[in-house]
Amino acid sequence: MASNSFGSIFKLTSYGESHGLALGGIIDGCPAGVPIDESLVQIDLDRRKPGQSKITTQRKEADKVVFHSGIFEGKTTGTPIGFSIENTNQRSNDYSHIKDSYRPSHADFVYDKKYGVRDYRGGGRSSARETVARVVAGSIAKQFIAPIHIQAYVNQVGTLRLDQPYTTLDITQGEENIVRCPDPIMAEKMINYISEIKKKGDTVGGVIRCVVKHVPVGLGEPVFQKLHANLGAAMLSINAVKAFAYGSGFEGAAMFGSEHNDYFNADGTTKTNYSGGIQGGISNGMDIYFDVAFKPVATILQPYESLTTEGTLEETHGKGRHDPCVVPRAVPIVEAMAALVFADHLLMNRNTKI
Ligand SMILES: Cc1cc2nc3c(=O)[nH]c(=O)nc-3n(C[C@H](O)[C@H](O)[C@H](O)COP(=O)(O)O)c2cc1C
Repeated sequence: MASNSFGSIFKLTSYGESHGLALGGIIDGCPAGVPIDESLVQIDLDRRKPGQSKITTQRKEADKVVFHSGIFEGKTTGTPIGFSIENTNQRSNDYSHIKDSYRPSHADFVYDKKYGVRDYRGGGRSSARETVARVVAGSIAKQFIAPIHIQAYVNQVGTLRLDQPYTTLDITQGEENIVRCPDPIMAEKMINYISEIKKKGDTVGGVIRCVVKHVPVGLGEPVFQKLHANLGAAMLSINAVKAFAYGSGFEGAAMFGSEHNDYFNADGTTKTNYSGGIQGGISNGMDIYFDVAFKPVATILQPYESLTTEGTLEETHGKGRHDPCVVPRAVPIVEAMAALVFADHLLMNRNTKI
């Protein structure tokens, strides 16, 4: 399997499977002398971990990170930062029914066809358990990129959508409820909706909005590593993501240039921000904001038709502990991937004017 690394200079390599002994990673290229508060890493892991509420999978993992190298007396040393997170609550028997069959719309079929061997337990390497390594590395990256600040929240679950722009919301309030939506009334509706879907053994998708503040002008390499292109690649690398849009996104296609142009203020800021804080692949100093759409995940706890490895169609019943809607747990994953992109671009931004 090629390409288990992400980033050009600030680079994460992740390893591990859902039901293996442990998952982890190595962060290469983190500069020396960055103060690291390990408790902040654990807070992000706790925001991602399974079993955190009634609307997430009930797999119970402590997800305690152990750092093996690269941090000494609370600061990075500039050497590789190695870390691991133990798997403690695997129930591999829950997956015996997919040993010889493929779940529709999961990665079972393509892994088998590509590699000819498949760790079917919990989805193996295709499981979003892999993202635990991204959250650790992203949390280290967040501490390196400060004062750049990243906050994501749930904007949509199924057809329940917040229609206001993020600028009219206190987006920090998303952390005050289990669905991570900053509007308490909408949050309640989303929680009830996911609970209903869960009772039916079904799944539902959603959209996460991410807002990045205090970004200096000038981040982004304007040909092949445009800031938005790298953010898009980062987001589309997350399990179950179907779409990425920044700034006006798809809605911008229906506007006129005269409406869509972000006219300047005398200080170089802009009166509107349809550009989403990026022009020509380079940050312009305004907030960067983008949306990430997640599908309703494949594993449904209902009868469904699957394809066996022998090439026959058969009726199967979904089993195991699964997320009815992944967006509440994916909020810290989106933030982590964004932080890795900003850390990398800060380090790449070394060939600008002095
Ligand atoms: C936080 C999170 C939790 C997930 N949990 C599940 C799950 O419980 N069941 C499932 O079938 N897929 C789950 N997924 C999605 C699968 O990992 C993903 O759909 C699968 O690897 C196939 O990849 P694709 O959907 O990107 O094509 C989860 C994704 C995320 C981000």
